[in-house]
Amino acid sequence: MTLSNTSQAKRNSGNIVLVGMMGAGKTTAGKLLAKQLGKTFIDSDEEIQKRTGVKISHIFDVEGEEGFRQRESAVIQDLIKLDNIVLATGGGAVLKPENRAALQQNGLVVYLKSSVHDLWQRTRHDHSRPLLQTANPRAKLQELFEQRDPIYAEVADYVVHTGKQSVQILISKLTQYICPQDPITDTKETMQTLEVGLAERSYQIHIGQKLLSHAGLLLKHIPHKRVAIVSNTTVAPLYLEKLTTLFNQQGIIIHEIILPDGEQYKNADSLTKIYDALLSNRCERNTPLIALGGGVIGDLTGYAAATYLRGVPFIQIPTTLLAQVDSSVGGKTGINHPLGKNMIGAFYQPQVVIADVATLSTLSDKELKAGIAEVIKYGLIRDIAFLEWLEQNMEKLLQRDAEALQYAIVRSCENKAEVVGNDERESGDRALLNLGHTFGHAIENAMGYGVWLHGEAVAAGTIMAADLSRRLGWISEQDVERVKNIFVRAGLPIVAPKLGFDKYVQLMGLDKKVADGKIRFVLLKTVGQAVIADNVPTDLLRQTLESCSA
Ligand code: NAD
Ligand code: GLY
Repeated sequence: MTLSNTSQAKRNSGNIVLVGMMGAGKTTAGKLLAKQLGKTFIDSDEEIQKRTGVKISHIFDVEGEEGFRQRESAVIQDLIKLDNIVLATGGGAVLKPENRAALQQNGLVVYLKSSVHDLWQRTRHDHSRPLLQTANPRAKLQELFEQRDPIYAEVADYVVHTGKQSVQILISKLTQYICPQDPITDTKETMQTLEVGLAERSYQIHIGQKLLSHAGLLLKHIPHKRVAIVSNTTVAPLYLEKLTTLFNQQGIIIHEIILPDGEQYKNADSLTKIYDALLSNRCERNTPLIALGGGVIGDLTGYAAATYLRGVPFIQIPTTLLAQVDSSVGGKTGINHPLGKNMIGAFYQPQVVIADVATLSTLSDKELKAGIAEVIKYGLIRDIAFLEWLEQNMEKLLQRDAEALQYAIVRSCENKAEVVGNDERESGDRALLNLGHTFGHAIENAMGYGVWLHGEAVAAGTIMAADLSRRLGWISEQDVERVKNIFVRAGLPIVAPKLGFDKYVQLMGLDKKVADGKIRFVLLKTVGQAVIADNVPTDLLRQTLESCSA
């Protein structure tokens, strides 16, 4: 687990790198941008001419394109080590992987994107461009664009469409993205970035205020101008427009898929609705699916992303506390089956998680509290210091103190990322994240999906787990009181519904942790340390189910 933030490191150097085709306006925009931001402007082509004392076209004549590219590489590797520059690169500078790596590591890379038509208008009378000195320069420009456009998009943190707008408008767009005095200043100041370390499936979790307005975080994951957003009838009216505005500005085509709201819709019908929309809009393998909503939308969308065309890119934008601290991280996706909760699904990791803490302002108190149940879970299973912090700061969380909420989200995600990083597919310790869930899922299923919120069921289920742990002699009566107390202070239920021993056992027998027909429980060895228990005596389980339900 690292608290690293590559974007922050890039910002620290203060460098802005402009990439794009010849004629995109990198030099003109770069000079103005540098002036506006108090940075030094450098043009890599000019630097090559300065060093060699001859024109670029002459280098092409004498040394060929490869000779020029070697000189260009050397210049780029030198320049990018400087601080606080705006660097306009030559159109082919990104062709060498080592150049791309150096630019990405040391600067915020902005792709100035123009249509081939506009590029042609701007370059047709310029005879200093060696690559266009052919019989059909228009066709050559088209060919170069097709070859380079995906490379620019891949290397860029931001894509800015230059279109027909004046340079001034372009500059104001650019500064809006990258200037430290822009309206998203508090975004940058508050944003914390964590990493889920899963080798080639690693990804970042960004947590902070107003991240939905932070174009760069999202756009770099949408290189192909098309995106499908899945949300529901409650969240879409609140937050969808923020995303659509952002995408419209970039000329990105959006397919909106709005589902009915509720746990009862986390099923095969909703999944089919998503597939129908993707297929009828001919969404392709490179069309990312964005989940905008709580855990229901996140789990459903993730499963659709895992299975549509055997897997398409997936982005999580969680908008409930529960989703921000738990369900959006770790790649568990799926739907409910009438016989059991989350029974159909796949492990499928997102490419990025963007948790905008500001979205929690519209969440109901009941949903906020349900999210706190999963927050408390991390303290109980593996982070006693966090539990102590929660005991001291519960009121702040309930009052939605922004700093306290963000701290709780970050600390929860740190815990979750560490567990998932060590055991992605739950062959070991990841199961500990299910404290209270074996009982909780049985409650949710028995009462009808959506009647008890997931977090509420987990709260009552955790009290059952604590009670059983005490009966096994692992924790004391006082410890159980401590566990009850924190849930009571969070306004969560601590008494489960009376379903009867047989019903509980029947429903818990459907739990995914069941092995060789035996129910396996996550229990507390001590407060702050959970374990898996395989052979719980039936009489103790019966006593717990009786005494903790009413
Ligand atoms: P949810 O998705 O149903 O959201 C709760 C309610 O809040 C919904 O009515 C929703 O429309 C509304 N809402 C969402 N964001 C809002 C906002 N910003 N303002 C106002 N209203 C908003 O429920 P949840 O608690 O987010 O998630 C529960 C689901 O997550 C369950 O299905 C559970 O199984 C699943 N889950 C999955 C994992 C995992 O690892 N994948 C972990 C825990 C829970
Ligand atoms: N919410 C439990 C897990 O992700 O494993």
